[in-house]
Amino acid sequence: MKNRLGRTLNTPLSPPYSESSAHHEIQLHVNDEVVTARVESRLLLTDFLRHRIGLTGTHVGCEQGTCGACTILLDGKAIRSCLMLAVQANGRTIRTVEGLAVSDEKLSSIQKAFHEQHGMQCGFCTPGFLMSLSGLAEQGGPKNDAELDDHLCGNICRCTGYVNIRRAARQAMDLDAVESDE
Ligand code: FES
Ligand code: FES
Repeated sequence: MKNRLGRTLNTPLSPPYSESSAHHEIQLHVNDEVVTARVESRLLLTDFLRHRIGLTGTHVGCEQGTCGACTILLDGKAIRSCLMLAVQANGRTIRTVEGLAVSDEKLSSIQKAFHEQHGMQCGFCTPGFLMSLSGLAEQGGPKNDAELDDHLCGNICRCTGYVNIRRAARQAMDLDAVESDE
């Protein structure tokens, strides 16, 4: 066998290039439901969530781990779903923004805080902030403003609505009284 430059390859192509191993059966828990699927090796977890199972609340911004729009919870920890393959999520538990509300009528405390403090403008970054803060809450929450601010740095808001986002986050994380003005 020769490569594109005409050089002879000593070893045959091995997985994931071979046809037989290009797809995988996966099973995972997503928002308290069991999901089984057959996925390509290269399918990103973001694309699996959005295009295969219709959970479009997970947004895609940079696709390189910078903006935080694609943040979800994986086994209770906030992660960037654009940096993970769907096949790597096999056997894991995922929560997306669609699974955050307590019920159809009742928002989670973090969602409620964003609603009350108007922590969004266009809303594109909002699911990422909500899931990132949910991960922080799962880890016990921030000890102070500095820790919260440090955490919020992981998500980018293109509308620059950070003042209200920070207010909402402080309320959600129970950091003293909400600041009246900044
Ligand atoms: S889309 Fe994943 S971090 Fe930006
Ligand atoms: S509210 Fe528009 S990107 Fe954050």
